[in-house]
Amino acid sequence: MENSRDWHQINGPRGSWLYGNLKAFQKNPLLFLTQISNVYGDVAKFRLGPFQKVYHVSNPDLIKEILVTKQKSFIKSKDLNVLKDVVGEGLLTSEKELHLQQRRQIQPAFKKAHITHYAQDMIDVTANYISHWADGREYLMSKEMMNVTLGIITKTMFSMNFDEGSQAIGQPIETYMKLAVKRMRAIVRLPLWLPTKNNREYKKSIDKLEQTLANIIEERRKSKNRHEDLLGMLMKARSDVNGLRMSDQQLMDELMTIFLAGHETTANALTWTLYLLTQHPHVMKKLNEELSEVIGDRNIQPDDFSKLTYTQNVFWESLRLFPPAYVIGRQVEDEVEIGDYFFQKGEMILMSPYVVHRNPLYFKDPTSFIPERFEGNLLKTLPSFAFFPFGGGPRVCIGNHFAVMEAVLVLASIFQRFNLTLAPDHHDIKPQPLITLRPKQGIRVIVTKK
Ligand code: HEM
Repeated sequence: MENSRDWHQINGPRGSWLYGNLKAFQKNPLLFLTQISNVYGDVAKFRLGPFQKVYHVSNPDLIKEILVTKQKSFIKSKDLNVLKDVVGEGLLTSEKELHLQQRRQIQPAFKKAHITHYAQDMIDVTANYISHWADGREYLMSKEMMNVTLGIITKTMFSMNFDEGSQAIGQPIETYMKLAVKRMRAIVRLPLWLPTKNNREYKKSIDKLEQTLANIIEERRKSKNRHEDLLGMLMKARSDVNGLRMSDQQLMDELMTIFLAGHETTANALTWTLYLLTQHPHVMKKLNEELSEVIGDRNIQPDDFSKLTYTQNVFWESLRLFPPAYVIGRQVEDEVEIGDYFFQKGEMILMSPYVVHRNPLYFKDPTSFIPERFEGNLLKTLPSFAFFPFGGGPRVCIGNHFAVMEAVLVLASIFQRFNLTLAPDHHDIKPQPLITLRPKQGIRVIVTKK
């Protein structure tokens, strides 16, 4: 490690002596990270607050070392601890051996072969939801996509219908997410036992979610019917360490995890895709042509997914430009050498798919929306972590195939029946990086029947 550069030899922007670069980072993390990667290159250092040392790593080979080859030297970032209020030690937040064991137990439910079971639910929920869209009306698409993905996850997870799911889970989850973002971004995090208004509301939303899940699990344990939904799969799965099934508490943590990790990310990805399509009529036209050719007027079938290759590429390209998980964080657990950089325990690393995906070294004309770039073998010619909307290594998104299948089937369902145009006098569309990357103030779209 003698020749490696450490904190003192690595460059980065100056910040205030007290807050470091916290203000610039919080004000606009996308701009801040893009700028420091342009100015300082592969690895830039900065501080969040007086003590927290952070590196921004933007070189795909180094990212691969952090997420894959040397992942054992890292844990996830401390910021995620806020999520533990609600997801406990679920898959997203657990570490090390516990994580590995849970991952092996849950993985079968998300295997490609198994998720095709969910495709029909995805198609049915979407068809039902958009059948209420009125010809010529304007909709807030960000909200609509939240509703559709919520409907899909409640159906595939618990076999619940849309109204039940949104009453029982949709509303408390919305309150929870709003307050969790506030807590994550707060400089001083008040302990939860303090009876502030926010704390009370926050705890109430968590209690409601837990109560709902506890009821669902209890009913399922009593039921004699076999269920092939995600809950059924998780209840069946045995640990390969002790052969046991999950306790109620673990089930609850995993269900909340899957909910939190899978609902808003997919909704935002879909919203960005719809927005990009309204801005690129020639892409919309090609997508429509593919739908006519593959599906025509008949009902969409689960196996249409694999034939809709252009639609898939549209989604990949949207994930490239607006990756919902715009930054992935790790904390150094054991000092480690990455490339010729030396990181010490407690230091934080941020890696941003948003920044890397927009680097002209890897993507020609990087800010343009060109789904065709994914045709052929683009991904094989790039370094493996030049495109990583789902992360990578042992903690790669477990729902990646689920998400892509869901998005493609939702897009196909919408464009089979409707044309979409951006509402006139639309506000400027700006990315808003909260827990996930969403369009600020949403996107207003007019739908017209075909
Ligand atoms: C477009 C949609 C989605 C995106 C962009 C996305 C992105 C990601 C990323 C980047 C990670 C890794 C985070 C890290 O390494 O720190 C992750 C993890 C995870 N995702 Fe997704 N995700 C999406 C959809 C889903 C869906 C639909 C589900 C479930 C139904 C899901 C469940 C999870 C879980 C459980 C983890 C934690 C995995 C682990 O740590 O072992 N995600 N996701």
